Amino acid sequence: MGCRVSSCLKRGDSANNDSELTKPDNVGQVDTNRTIPVRSRVKSQIRQVVNGSLGPWKSMPNHLPPAPNRFLRHQETLPNLPVPPLQQTLQKYLQAIQPLVDENQFKATESIVQEFGRKGGSGEKLQEKLEHRAKKFENWLSDWWLDAAYLDFRTPVVVNVSPSVTFPRDEFRGHKGQVEHAAKLISGVLDYKIDIDNETLAVEKLGNHPLCMDQYYKILSSCRIPGIKSDLVENYARSWLPPQHIVVAKNNHFFKLSVYNSDGSPLTIDQLEEQLNTIVAAALKKDIGVGILTSDGRNNWAKASKILLKDSTNKHSIRTIQRSIFMVCLDEAVPAVTEEKWTTDMALRALHGGGSEINSANRWFDKTLQFVICPDGGVGLTYEHSPAEGPPIMALLDHVHKYCKDPPEQPKMPLLALARPMKLEFNVSSDVKRSIDTASENIDAVVRDVQMNCIKFADFGKNFPKSCKISPDAFIQVALQLAYMKMYHQTCATYESASLRRFRLGRTDTIRSCTNASKAFSEAMLNDNMNSTKKSELLREAIASHRKYTSDAIAGEAIDRHLLGLKLTAIEAKENVPEIFMDPTYETAMHYKLSTSQVPCKADLCMGFGPVVPNGYGVCYNPKEEYFLFSISAYNSSPETDAYKFGDQLSEALNDMKKVLQEADALSSKL
Ligand code: COA
Repeated sequence: MGCRVSSCLKRGDSANNDSELTKPDNVGQVDTNRTIPVRSRVKSQIRQVVNGSLGPWKSMPNHLPPAPNRFLRHQETLPNLPVPPLQQTLQKYLQAIQPLVDENQFKATESIVQEFGRKGGSGEKLQEKLEHRAKKFENWLSDWWLDAAYLDFRTPVVVNVSPSVTFPRDEFRGHKGQVEHAAKLISGVLDYKIDIDNETLAVEKLGNHPLCMDQYYKILSSCRIPGIKSDLVENYARSWLPPQHIVVAKNNHFFKLSVYNSDGSPLTIDQLEEQLNTIVAAALKKDIGVGILTSDGRNNWAKASKILLKDSTNKHSIRTIQRSIFMVCLDEAVPAVTEEKWTTDMALRALHGGGSEINSANRWFDKTLQFVICPDGGVGLTYEHSPAEGPPIMALLDHVHKYCKDPPEQPKMPLLALARPMKLEFNVSSDVKRSIDTASENIDAVVRDVQMNCIKFADFGKNFPKSCKISPDAFIQVALQLAYMKMYHQTCATYESASLRRFRLGRTDTIRSCTNASKAFSEAMLNDNMNSTKKSELLREAIASHRKYTSDAIAGEAIDRHLLGLKLTAIEAKENVPEIFMDPTYETAMHYKLSTSQVPCKADLCMGFGPVVPNGYGVCYNPKEEYFLFSISAYNSSPETDAYKFGDQLSEALNDMKKVLQEADALSSKL
């Protein structure tokens, strides 16, 4: 999703320079001199805490036998991320900004870019240094990106960073149904974990290209750790004692729930249900809600965490949450809404929990995966974004969704008493109480501000653009441009996530969907004097332009990460930041009023995330053959934006584009 790397990015301390505050108590156990098997040889800044054993194999009859080292073997076949040629990026940059600024500003920027790119100029020097870095690192970008896009960001992760996912409403109702569903869901995640642990996950492909699978191994047993200036993200899956527990949040209490039997087999659905009922019975009253602290700005939370960690009980509880495999939040009932508004309401509940008086304290927002299960059949997820992009998460959720619909027959377990889930206690001092009050006020303001609109556009789906030999993704992106033009009579900088996972440790680059061609098409659509044939030609040019940008981006030849790399090279070398990055045009180019992402999924799940600028939109979509699922977010505090109006414009734009193509086809067949 959208990039929050602002044009005036200043690097704080690297996440590796732990302050006392960020240093976790188990760091001392990392033995960097050991011969490290398997994963840690694939370097990554996400800290693999205590490399060592691969953990127990949880063999089940329906799973492939363990294939240790397959992950590493696959990773080693992947190419390194290239550094694109400087002149190519500068030329593409000029093309990208042309539809965003007026002629005078464009000319001024053109000369700044020429100066930057001249022979022997600062661009060439930075390029040389960057190419040198690329020779040293498996991925020259990934560590920088983790810091710049995530860990250095001081805003709350809620809404600003962490997306939500909404499942279709399930049939269960009430607290009994909630617990029964939670048991199935936990069992489904543990089932997927077998393939992660055994390294038997199918290698994902984009076209014919195998993709980097690194992120799959980081979505479980990971957690973000707050720090002043910069956070850390840690993964505990390969520790000497890999976590065997999850954490369940109920009524703002947290419980450690061991999810494996003594023989290493996962608890069955019945066993899980029994344990969850024990938790529910032990959490009848609301707790003060320490979890709300994780929803606050990162510096506030880091300061509060420092105070909390001075107490050994708190420290144990926090570490237990951080080291868990994942979290399950059994939420309290919320006021009912109409069926029409239900998906949007559920998306918001998953995104932020509804506020301090509702379920926002029933969370630990640092945890990579938190499943949210509500008594009204609502199931969702919120995920802390730093370890992974949406696609691996969606693959897991697809598995879980299918598993819950039709769970496999469970093995019979002997009737042995299970260890009681452990309540995680917190001692809350008056300082911490004050921080909780501040965090509560802050999250309530966020909750009031976020507007969400989940839409099922049912007039057609991917099938229509495909029948016109058009890429559905490009069709949707051009429709977003048209919708924006219809609403504002202007263009805006637009971000679409492009996968860089063809490359080892690849994350994303930006597809800049606002192009000269999309602008020409959108303007033509507002011109009543232009005929459908001409409009259709312009539409196909806009689509072709988007496709070209997309194929460049996934081949590592987009411009944004390269420009970021050049800028960070200057900063790391303590050189002046070149003028190209101080130019108002660069700021305009980075002010993404449309932050968008395709996150496909077999089931009808839709991801949602907040806008990345105060006057912008966050748009995520899951294109299906017969329909499109969209989530559109905006901020109520911006007088400019309205997620509902934008949704209407988008639906209209999609239909207008279909009409233009059909009319042009009809006319050409008459000739
Ligand atoms: N004619 C007919 N069919 C076409 C077509 C054409 N001209 N172009 C594409 N299609 C088909 C494809 O074959 C594909 O078919 P399928 O549905 O059977 O799989 C389908 O249309 C979708 O293709 P398209 O719409 O072009 O999208 P894509 O799958 O190539 O995805 C991106 C494009 C940019 C989304 C993808 O490359 C990407 O980078 N995804 C990752 C984004 C990400 O990480 N998001 C998460 C951020 S948190």
